[in-house]
Amino acid sequence: MPDLKVLLSRDQIAKRVAEMGEEIARDYRGQSIIFIGVLKGASIFLSDLARHVPLDATFDFIGISSYGNRPTPKEDPAGHAAWDSLGEVRVTKDMDNSLADRNVILVEDILDTGLTLNYISKLVQAHQPKSLRIAALLDKPERRIKKDVKADYVGFQIPNEFVVGYGLDYAERYRNLKDVCVLSLPPS
Ligand code: IMP
Ligand code: MG
Repeated sequence: MPDLKVLLSRDQIAKRVAEMGEEIARDYRGQSIIFIGVLKGASIFLSDLARHVPLDATFDFIGISSYGNRPTPKEDPAGHAAWDSLGEVRVTKDMDNSLADRNVILVEDILDTGLTLNYISKLVQAHQPKSLRIAALLDKPERRIKKDVKADYVGFQIPNEFVVGYGLDYAERYRNLKDVCVLSLPPS
């Protein structure tokens, strides 16, 4: 059985997500915004975050997949270095709404190498939004390849460990855990 250790409890997450929502609400006071969630990992974070932003808001989602197989934590427990070559991203579900002249907040579960958000930010910028900011629940700064990719709103900076729960998966599982947990698989 894989070993799961709580890194961020549901209470810590709830408190921090509420603070992030309040900060966003202050920054965009009197304006409307569109939250764009990156499927599937950001879905739970987006739904909690948006409920702490009492402004005129709409939702959209973008689906992306990275080329190649990202190694599992078991294959690469030290920090999945083989991911580093994978800069290519493909859109599997495009956004439904026009973003021209909108205040866009990109919502992502975790900012890791930065390759995904680098790609999506460029895609969104091409729509000429009024503004674009990034909200990421988690940030692994040690892993950044795209150094210029930064989140404007960060929930927690975490060490270089593979985490699951609260939307984050390992092979599509564990997204429904209430806490963010470090996943380690036993040696085979
Ligand atoms: P990036 O493109 O390297 O920044 O990676 C972002 C994506 O990689 C996230 O949206 C996640 O889907 C995935 N990812 C990165 N680190 C983890 C992790 O620790 N657990 C689960 N998924 C992760
Ligand atoms: Mg993701």
